[in-house]
Amino acid sequence: MTRRKIVAGNWKMNGSKESVVELVKSIQSNDAVDVVVAPSFVYLATVADLALASNLKVAAQNVSDQKQGAFTGEVSIPMLEDFSVSHVIVGHSERRSLYAETDAIVADKVDAVLAAGLTPILCVGETLEQRENGTTLAICNGQIDAVMNVVGAERFESVVVAYEPVWAIGTGKSATSEQAQEVHKGIRTHIAKTSSKAAEKVAILYGGSVKASNSAELFAQPDIDGALVGGASLDAAEFNSIIESAK
Ligand code: G3H
Repeated sequence: MTRRKIVAGNWKMNGSKESVVELVKSIQSNDAVDVVVAPSFVYLATVADLALASNLKVAAQNVSDQKQGAFTGEVSIPMLEDFSVSHVIVGHSERRSLYAETDAIVADKVDAVLAAGLTPILCVGETLEQRENGTTLAICNGQIDAVMNVVGAERFESVVVAYEPVWAIGTGKSATSEQAQEVHKGIRTHIAKTSSKAAEKVAILYGGSVKASNSAELFAQPDIDGALVGGASLDAAEFNSIIESAK
């Protein structure tokens, strides 16, 4: 099965009203690739119109699993839908480590995103210590199972997984294409134990210091279906080169 490549830019807590307009206008869509941009919540309205006009998809970086109510500071899925958001990053390692998002919280969020018909980008990945302990796949597959056990294998077919080794995020030290492929294959093989259909369908993106100089090699791996790009997505020329290499 040929899975469509996805290149997503997670802008994290960066940019200004002026710079996000400049950035989104400079990103070139590509018929062969799904290009997704994830601005801060406060810039969603500004970015979404420009992105959609340029054939780019829009993601949120997080969401509440609650529809409405007394949840100060939270943003609901219906609010995201008002801005034509199609994807939601869930369980990014920064949310897990800095904001105490547990596997159970992540699973509830993925469940809510799927229920609304949006696409969750479920982030999984090991710390350096876990890699050195030899528990990389156990950690990643455990994070996958926590979600699959809640949403079920059939609904999991619509999930996009992003494998992001924590030690590679923002460090400039990407996993090698061999290291990444090994984990992607391990995750796909693990999903196949529950559902071979889900294993075939699920796109698995790599994230962690992806740049124009290493993206083509990563994308050439059979189980790497694209990238979740942080720092390099803030530079339009660099991000466009990454998109180009995914064709
Ligand atoms: O969501 C994106 C990842 O955290 C990767 O960030 O490309 O800056 O390493 P990075």
